[in-house]
Amino acid sequence: MKHTKVKDLLNSTTTLHEVNAKGWVRTFRNNQFIALNDGSTINNIQCVVDFENTPDETLKRITTGAAVSVTGTLVESKGAGQKYEIQVAELEILGDSDAEKFPMQPKKHSLEFLRENAHLRVRTNAFSAIMRVRSVLSFAVHSYFQEKGFVYVNTPIITGSDAEGAGEMFKVTALPFDNTPRTEEGKVNYKEDFFGKETNLTVSGQLEGETFAMALGQIYTFGPTFRAENSNTSRHLAEFWMIEPEVAFNDLNDNMDLAEDFIQYVIKYVLDKCPEDLKFLEGRLIEEEKVKPQAERSEMALLEKLNFVLENNFKRVSYTEAIDILRDSTPNKKKKFNYIINEWGADLQSEHERYLVEKHFKCPVILFDYPANIKAFYMRLNEDGKTVRAMDILFPGIGEIVGGSQREERYEVLVEKMKALGIDEEELWWYLDTRRFGSAVHSGFGLGFERLVLFVTGMTNIRDVIPFPRTPMNAEF
Ligand code: 4AD
Ligand code: MG
Repeated sequence: MKHTKVKDLLNSTTTLHEVNAKGWVRTFRNNQFIALNDGSTINNIQCVVDFENTPDETLKRITTGAAVSVTGTLVESKGAGQKYEIQVAELEILGDSDAEKFPMQPKKHSLEFLRENAHLRVRTNAFSAIMRVRSVLSFAVHSYFQEKGFVYVNTPIITGSDAEGAGEMFKVTALPFDNTPRTEEGKVNYKEDFFGKETNLTVSGQLEGETFAMALGQIYTFGPTFRAENSNTSRHLAEFWMIEPEVAFNDLNDNMDLAEDFIQYVIKYVLDKCPEDLKFLEGRLIEEEKVKPQAERSEMALLEKLNFVLENNFKRVSYTEAIDILRDSTPNKKKKFNYIINEWGADLQSEHERYLVEKHFKCPVILFDYPANIKAFYMRLNEDGKTVRAMDILFPGIGEIVGGSQREERYEVLVEKMKALGIDEEELWWYLDTRRFGSAVHSGFGLGFERLVLFVTGMTNIRDVIPFPRTPMNAEF
């Protein structure tokens, strides 16, 4: 008999027929009630075992974590909180799980402990919910851009360019195969790179994306991105996923409209498709918040916060206006910021970003027109000669979720900027070609996918929203 997913069983419109379910035991109560989960939904199906007619030997093997197959009748449940249950006629243990050794005990584990068991933490309610939400969100990303006629582009992962000019790259070297270049002493010569030139893992697909936008009009990338920054924060990963749309003929305002519309679409999508998982995550967050001091608790519950983003425009504020606000602000009675901004031109720290979003405007904020010298080389210089058409989107509880800009489309201005920053023109000859042949105004942005998943799930550490986090602390898997 073919098994039916627990989700479909719980959504059944008929009962009293024979069904088969396969999954993992979450708990086994009173030698009688199995809470069975198969990952299709946050909900377990209760399977009622006829313990009097089941050998003791088998009952002992129904332990948390064991894989089982149950066949029986789907009936309406008398128990609270569940519509249906399975009256088990036949039970087969597919894979035993030693109850004493299985790390995912049926109790609350710390997130740190779970991180060390990333291969098993997905068997908990919280992580299975997060991973389903993450999956739906990725589909929403594609759905949004595909509906709008954007072309999905796969930009190279091994590349010679440092798109952000930040120098935070992982270098790629040839593996020590037999033909690997060796030094005279016979050691692998890691200086000789894969393509006979220095290559690294991509920090952004933007530059390649721009070349495609200048032919296909509207494109987006969605792929793994690598930053060798040794930052042990709850917002940074060494390997993360980034979504980068790039659109020909869009200026900065169009870019802001696109980013806002896109974020609202994907949040609406996940609210529609994952109500049970989000409800569960909301409950989880409420429990977490209870132990926090009152002042640190979030004012809104998760679903309210997500709906708030849908229903309110993002506040658009220039860098210069933001600096004026920050200069006059004291985040709390006792203390100013750790890093006090006195001068126009200083880069904002995350404490300033969070202040603007969480305390001052109390809604998502788009900051634009940043000083040229704190932003990347490719951004369009404004008429004032000192600011660029950059935009960062700041979210409550997250800080920066999007970074983007209108691009410098003027060949001479771009070359001059590169010269001033010591960026080799020869290296980026192909990028400069876009400005040499049929250049046009164009804009794009990058959204850090995990930061979006953080916001939607209400989790607070970025390591908890990616299956296998790559950080200086988590290189286990
Ligand atoms: O602001 P960033 O560095 O911008 C770019 O890479 C541009 N090339 C994007 C573009 O215009 N096409 O990165 C974009 C976003 C950030 O706003 C943040 O959400 C995320 O990527 N991000 C990270 N997420 C997790 N871990 C890290 N180490 C991240 N670095 C950036
Ligand atoms: Mg940025």
